[in-house]
Parts: sequence; structure tokens; C-alpha cells
Amino acid sequence: MKNIILDLDTGIDDTLAIAYALGNPEAKLIGITGTYGNVTVDQGVRNALAVTELFGHPEVPVYRGIDHPEAKETFAVSQGSAFIHGANGVGDVDIPDAKRSAESEPAVDFIIDAAKTYGKELTYVPTGAMTNIAAALRRAPEIRNLIGDIVLMGGALTVPGNVNAWTEANISQDPEAADYLFRSGVRTEMIGLDVTMQTLLTRAETAQWRELGTPAGRFLADMTDYYIAAYEKTAPGLGGCGLHDPLAVATAIDPTLVATLPINLKVELDGPTRGRTIGDYDRLNDPFKTTSVAIAVNKSRFLDDFMRRVTSVATA
Ligand code: BDR
Ligand code: CA
Repeated sequence: MKNIILDLDTGIDDTLAIAYALGNPEAKLIGITGTYGNVTVDQGVRNALAVTELFGHPEVPVYRGIDHPEAKETFAVSQGSAFIHGANGVGDVDIPDAKRSAESEPAVDFIIDAAKTYGKELTYVPTGAMTNIAAALRRAPEIRNLIGDIVLMGGALTVPGNVNAWTEANISQDPEAADYLFRSGVRTEMIGLDVTMQTLLTRAETAQWRELGTPAGRFLADMTDYYIAAYEKTAPGLGGCGLHDPLAVATAIDPTLVATLPINLKVELDGPTRGRTIGDYDRLNDPFKTTSVAIAVNKSRFLDDFMRRVTSVATA
């Protein structure tokens, strides 16, 4: 059993990651911390509260995180994000607000407390801007040696980005925070576009959720069809949507789903390639590699597992 914190900019694939984690008996979702990217922190927190209730898990605490990147004063949802995730982050599908509110403890405090409480038994999965974990590591450096696995969705090493040719969305939101994380000495596993664009979900699968006839099944199908339609417009012929965030959660639970390359990474912070994840030449010969980058994935095993877990949540 893994104690997991999901750090989410709760849009569509983040919501699928929540459903997957809730449906996996090997995961204990001890909290969701809110970041920004697909939506603002406030909208993401609202979505996380709402979908955990819809999925029958109102006990999962949700914490509000930092609402802006290190290098900028404000964060605004881009038109690109709204196009892909809907203005409300869940494909513009209506979902009732949760009955409960976010916890009063800020996300960064919760992350630090959880690292001290659970130590190596804690797995932290950030799938939006890396702002919260960078802030936690800065504020409480002692957790560097305490915290367990950090399995992040973000970046691209061998393929182009999805914001531009260089940059993946989550890293682009706060390049300084991601660079800090990669160079902090803490071990990370990067689940980037290299593998997440290989794990595609199609309408054949979402139809299975709709056919369940449950509120959660209909919601998941309608929301994910919005995502698939956006992918069809931006990448005609792709045939589905990338399961970015669920793959990070799945790998956190079962590392054997991917093959990895050990490498020290950095993020380019200047010039037109700002936000690019790239090998850190200064640490090329350092025998201690802090990051493992996923470069291959067992697609069918992941997709079968994903559908089984999410369908169990949609059925309940
Ligand atoms: C990542 O960016 C966000 O839009 C998705 O939720 C995912 O975490 C993919 O690049
Ligand atoms: Ca995300």
C-alpha cells in the first residue's frame, strides 16, 4: 500500500488520475494539494473537491497551494488550457460543488508535515506546476532526506513539447520551480511526453463508462470526450488523448510499467527554449543520478489496469 499525495492542476487528465488512484487498492490517497496550470488554483481545488465526492470519496482532504510561479506575479489560465480542458477544467461538464471545503492548512505545510510523518512511505505525484514541492523543499530542507518517491508528470526529453517545440505544459508553468526540483539532490522520476503520448484513450473506452449509466460514468465519459475532441483538433489522426497524469500515478504504484534512463536533468531558464527539460552537462559525469526519465512504457498493461480501476470507481 502506497501513501500518495497528488499535486494537481485539476483538469481532465488530473481528474482521471484521481479516479485511477481511488480505484487502485494499492494506493491510499492521503491528500490532494492544489496547484495551477490547466486552471487556477481555486478552480482546481473546487474540481478536486467535487470529483472526489462524485467518486464517493469525500474523506480525501484537499489543500490549496501556491497560486503563482516563482518568477512571475500572477498566473492566468491560457486560452490553450481552456481549449483542451474546458473553461471549468473538466470539459465544461456541469458538476455540483462539493459539500465540504478545502482544508485550512496550506498545501506546502501539509506536504512538509506528511514528509515528516510518512518518510519513505510517502509517494508524492505532482502533475501540474512544480511550485508547491519546490517551496516545500526550500522551506524545510530536512525533508529532502525524508520524503519517499517523487514521480512527476512533466517534461519531454526525446520528443517535442506540447506548448511549443521545446516545452511541456507543466514545466512551462514554473520553469524555476522544476529546475530547482531537478537540481535539489532529491530523487525524482520523470513521466514526460516521451511515454504519456504513447498511452492514448479513445472513445471506445469512454463509451464503456457512459454505458454504466451512473452519474460518475456519464461525467467521466462526457469530460474525457471533450479532451479527445481537443486532441483531434490539435493532432488530427492521433486517435485519442494522452493519459499523462494517470500514467504518473500508475508508475508511482507499479514502477515496472516503464523503463527508465538515469540522468541528471535541468530546465533551461533563458531564451527561446525556456522551459525545456534537458540533460545537465555539468553533472553528466556525476555517478549519482537524481532523475530517472521514463523512455518506454508497457502500454497494454497500463491501459488494461487503468480501465479496470477507473471503471470500478465509475460503477460504484
Ligand atoms: C500535462 O499538462 C496538463 O495540461 C495536463 O494535466 C498534464 O499534467 C500534460 O502536458
Ligand atoms: Ca495536470
